[in-house]
Amino acid sequence: MIGIFDSGIGGLSVFREIRKLMPGESYAYYSDNAHCPYGEKTADYIIGRAVQITGILAGKGADIIVVACNTATAAAISALRRLYSDRSDPEVRKRALEISGGRRDHIMFIGMEPAVKPAIGLTKTGVIGVLATAGTLKAEKYRNTRELVHGPVKVVEHVGQGFVELVEKGELSGRNAETVVEASLRPLLDAGADVIVLGCTHYPFLMDTIRKIAGPGIAVIDPAPAVAKHLADVMKEDGLPDGCQGNGRVELLSSGPDDNLKAAYAMFMTA
Ligand code: DGL
Repeated sequence: MIGIFDSGIGGLSVFREIRKLMPGESYAYYSDNAHCPYGEKTADYIIGRAVQITGILAGKGADIIVVACNTATAAAISALRRLYSDRSDPEVRKRALEISGGRRDHIMFIGMEPAVKPAIGLTKTGVIGVLATAGTLKAEKYRNTRELVHGPVKVVEHVGQGFVELVEKGELSGRNAETVVEASLRPLLDAGADVIVLGCTHYPFLMDTIRKIAGPGIAVIDPAPAVAKHLADVMKEDGLPDGCQGNGRVELLSSGPDDNLKAAYAMFMTA
């Protein structure tokens, strides 16, 4: 079973791609909507949530966990790997066995990363725009990725202010959504960006509105397909079944009311 979590429904944009590759796999998806958004929360707070959710997903049977949230990846994935991934450490083995009910002696984590590297090969103006949460943009993990951009290529960033709230409300288009999206996207376009990297898993749900405002000639990158492919590769290396056989069972879990999650799942995942 693959466990997937996000602060809300954003991670469904990653889940959608994973399930295309591994339709027979069983899944447990956890929306931490009682604590959403993560974007402005401290790293310690997010680590606490990530550890708790890992325990829940491993207890449900997850063999590998996708942190389908850029903000949680930036804040917590190193801590999660330290606690549960290194099977050569007896303490880690003990901990992993404990939370998985004796099934697994280590748990692997797959995280999100803003797709700055692929964007370098696509830009013609030499300007890449990154939209992400405040937490992702200030995290060391992102700063390190950004350091990889040298020479003539420049990276400009903006927080997608209000984007997560729009997606959680299911307001993906219309006048208000366009005004909200434009306020954060326009500064990147004005700076000359011809490639926009979506650095938050909620943002792909606003793709049509983002494309409408960006206009033709602007590439918009969603890293979810690449993450799904990476997950399949890591599962293979770790000796897990290939995810194509099986019953494709999906369990939806959330820390708050689950009506949003169920509606979003029905809309985006069963279409
Ligand atoms: N979906 C998230 C991300 O990828 C979290 C957004 C939030 O809760 O602020 O960053």
